[in-house]
Amino acid sequence: MAEDTKRTGSLYGGAAEPCAVVLFGASGDLAKRKVIPAMFDLANHNSLGSRYVIVGFARTPMSDENFRATAGDAAKTMSEIGPVDPKQWDAFASALYYLSGDYSDPQAYEQLAKRLIQLEADKKLGGNRLFYLSTPPEVYPHIVEQLGRAGLARPSSPNSWVRIIIEKPFGRDLATAKELNKTVLDVFEEKQVYRIDHYLGKDTVQNLLVLRFSNGIFEPLWNRNYVDCVQITAAETLGVERRGGFYETTGALRDMIQSHVLQLTSLVAVEPPASFDATSVQNEKLKVLQSIRPFNLEMVAQSVVRGQYAPGQLDGKHLPGYREEPGVSQTSRTETFVAACLLIDNWRWAGVPFYLRTGKRLATRSTEIMIQFKCAPHIVFRDRAIEPNRLILNIQPEEGISVSFGAKRPGTEMRIGNVNMNFSYKEGFGEASRSAYATLVNDCLRGDATLFDRGDNVEAAWSLVDPILDVWSAAKSAKVPEYPTGSWGPRESDLLLERDGRRWLNP
Ligand code: BG6
Repeated sequence: MAEDTKRTGSLYGGAAEPCAVVLFGASGDLAKRKVIPAMFDLANHNSLGSRYVIVGFARTPMSDENFRATAGDAAKTMSEIGPVDPKQWDAFASALYYLSGDYSDPQAYEQLAKRLIQLEADKKLGGNRLFYLSTPPEVYPHIVEQLGRAGLARPSSPNSWVRIIIEKPFGRDLATAKELNKTVLDVFEEKQVYRIDHYLGKDTVQNLLVLRFSNGIFEPLWNRNYVDCVQITAAETLGVERRGGFYETTGALRDMIQSHVLQLTSLVAVEPPASFDATSVQNEKLKVLQSIRPFNLEMVAQSVVRGQYAPGQLDGKHLPGYREEPGVSQTSRTETFVAACLLIDNWRWAGVPFYLRTGKRLATRSTEIMIQFKCAPHIVFRDRAIEPNRLILNIQPEEGISVSFGAKRPGTEMRIGNVNMNFSYKEGFGEASRSAYATLVNDCLRGDATLFDRGDNVEAAWSLVDPILDVWSAAKSAKVPEYPTGSWGPRESDLLLERDGRRWLNP
């Protein structure tokens, strides 16, 4: 079980305990784009306190100075933390160190241990250590094993802690996720392990729980008696960028559905946890995943659609198709779009379809959850052109909530129009500097695992996705439908809802 700290995780709450953070994969894209800027953000808000070091570790040879310079260049271009004040950056940069080594070389870890002991003594850090795995997933097992072998996985004193953050993808199917869980848990205890899914660090994702469980008006309607269907869309306008090689062996089902989209599904469907702590929240999320009807061959054929982006126009630019992207095979069958209909077999959700979709190079960048309510049982008006009521949670890029309902149009006739009541995060709370990674690293430094994934949850998500992967890999000659860049996916995705008498609500 994960450490059962009651979640307080207030971003930028007081300073964390002194600690050393070791960032594996420090020269990589994710470290530079997300993790280091998040640390900088925390340092600026005094969440890291004054006693900390960040030791970058990667294969690329580099001096401390070079690491500071490259990390700085990357952090300065990050929009999430706003403009970087050079003075603040210099203060932060002086806590950055770098060590190069091969991830499976025991000597490199001996060097790391020596460096840590020396830095901890110099800066009086007290032995708290956070290892952050931001490398390609193939090297996770090597790092974990070597940390164990070098005696780095256990706290050096009863008052200190050692934790490890592991990036997604956690495995590439159920078998490899189980294997990785075993490797990790042979070396670390579950309470030390923080499997990260950055969607859970987004304020608006957490707000879903607040909306449901801190208000009296929504939860009574949040069930099969009132909800007609749920739609979850995670649409990107970006293509695969420079990640063609990775994406070729991954695809949208593994990359987005198994993690981010199933996380959103769990939070929409979850029963109220007894309290907002890691064990209660994760237990309830697990129950949701275990209640989703498992896919079989027939259900995959009927309820899951995949697609691949073809060339097209987006924002006035002509963009290449997936097969023309660097690192991608010209005969690739990798999906860049998935739409699926899930059924949750429990008392709350029996019979309510959850339609999920995600894709790259779609018409708009937008992640949103739409709860569509059943229509009024009897319409007394002559004008029957009434849309169902909808509650929309906009997760990004515009963060907010809207409720749509019918209202009388002005005029002498009784005509009905559909109107929206909108809440915008920006207008309601002002613009705050928020980064999902900062929230999550901050929580981990405080031992709060509520917004991280537990091993059994990750395996449950893979159990759902595995049968789909199996059907697709067996159907070698089946067509992968194409969709033009800038569209809402292949026609098959619309048909998935049309056969149920519904349609996607495009953001
Ligand atoms: C990552 C996926 O986990 O999430 C990417 O690997 C995807 O392919 C990204 O682009 C989306 O994250 P966000 O926060 O931009 O919605």
